[in-house]
Amino acid sequence: MAVRRFSKIRVIPPGPNARRIIEWDEKYLMQSYVRWYPLVITRGDGVIVEDVDGNRYIDFNSGLAVLNTGHLPKPVVERIKDQIGRFLHYSLTDFYYELAPRYAEKLVKALGWSGGKVFFTNSGAESIEAAIKVSRGYFKGERPYLISFLNSFHGRTMAALTLSASKTIHKKYFHPLLPGVIHVPYPNPYRCPFGSRDPDECAERTIGYIEDVVFRKIVDPSEVGAFFIEPIQGEGGYVVPPKEFMVMLRRLTEKHGILLVADEVQSGMGRTGRLLAIYNFGVKPDLAALAKGIASGLPLGALVGDGDVMSLPKGSHANTFGGNPVSLAAAEATLDLLMDGLMENARIQGEYIMTRLRELMDEVDLIGDVRGIGLMIGVEVVKDRESREPNPKAASWIIEQCFKRGLLIIGGGESALRIAPPLVITRDVVDEGLDILSEVIKEADREFR
Ligand SMILES: Cc1ncc(COP(=O)(O)O)c(C=O)c1O
Repeated sequence: MAVRRFSKIRVIPPGPNARRIIEWDEKYLMQSYVRWYPLVITRGDGVIVEDVDGNRYIDFNSGLAVLNTGHLPKPVVERIKDQIGRFLHYSLTDFYYELAPRYAEKLVKALGWSGGKVFFTNSGAESIEAAIKVSRGYFKGERPYLISFLNSFHGRTMAALTLSASKTIHKKYFHPLLPGVIHVPYPNPYRCPFGSRDPDECAERTIGYIEDVVFRKIVDPSEVGAFFIEPIQGEGGYVVPPKEFMVMLRRLTEKHGILLVADEVQSGMGRTGRLLAIYNFGVKPDLAALAKGIASGLPLGALVGDGDVMSLPKGSHANTFGGNPVSLAAAEATLDLLMDGLMENARIQGEYIMTRLRELMDEVDLIGDVRGIGLMIGVEVVKDRESREPNPKAASWIIEQCFKRGLLIIGGGESALRIAPPLVITRDVVDEGLDILSEVIKEADREFR
């Protein structure tokens, strides 16, 4: 086995300290989470995570696509410390502080969103909830219908949950959900819901379905307020739609006066080499929902939109903690780092990772597809390339084995691997992570045929 410089497994996890904490967790926390593997973290540094038994892992997760600037980025930590010495809270719902408009202006300008306005939230789901209320409010209740995509994930609160359609377990026992939501197929080019293997045709057939079926048989487009779309599906397995699709969807929404809401909670804040993933398709949405990577790990979300759309009347929407000053201070420093080379690095490292993984496809039959933009990369694990049949057993085994050998990755969709390292990752760490992943995939290729 090659010498590892960055990762180090001293005790096969879970070690004794990890086991004790997991037992404790099981006793006192509601166990509605799905933990991928028994990782119990004690500290992070850049792209390295250390567990409570002294094991070191390369982080290809970024704490679920949150730590875009890596663990404990110095300028962010300094800004947080500075803000902590000033004040910790004073609700924007009722009062003012400079940090809020200052960061909002910085964000809107970085997004190139002239006339844009911001509403601050505490999470991705809350940004989506805000987008639902803003779009219904914008049309004064006259366009109550919302459309989202199959296999999408928009969050766990009741309305965001209604928009989601990736797993029934998310919804079981929780009905009735929000009325007025319609789901349409997402044009996954690898497994096109319309059976096509040509991405452009897949895009056309999806738009055709919306026009010919949804708008003729289910709801009149004049009653639809917004489309919600993840420009790259996250939980769905890092699925990149055909490039033309996003342009066609934008045209369709403009034709019918419908708002286009980009759920950029996972794909945004530089992960794809641009601040919004949808910019990679040359499309500007009417609203963008942000969270995760926005404040380097502190809780913050934002809804950004055109000033005339972000027009809910006074008293109609607010929250106590949204735009917390410590989170905003972290967000300011985070944005500086993203603009100052990290997005560029995401593009460079992402291309390199995809090239190496595509080369690996020459040696194994278990990988059906490698896709992504920047550092949002999906690897489809299949029974064999010809059938394209999902191989969830092999995917779970790969994830578990990587963990035991010092690499943190998670899955998505039915049997994809999600690769989303911090944007600060360097080539040498990428190489070590990919060495571990390739070794495990080759073994899986022998085991799971
Ligand atoms: C695309 C997308 N939207 C919304 C959410 C919900 O975000 P949160 O967990 O912060 O509520 C997530 C979380 O994974 C997500 O990936």
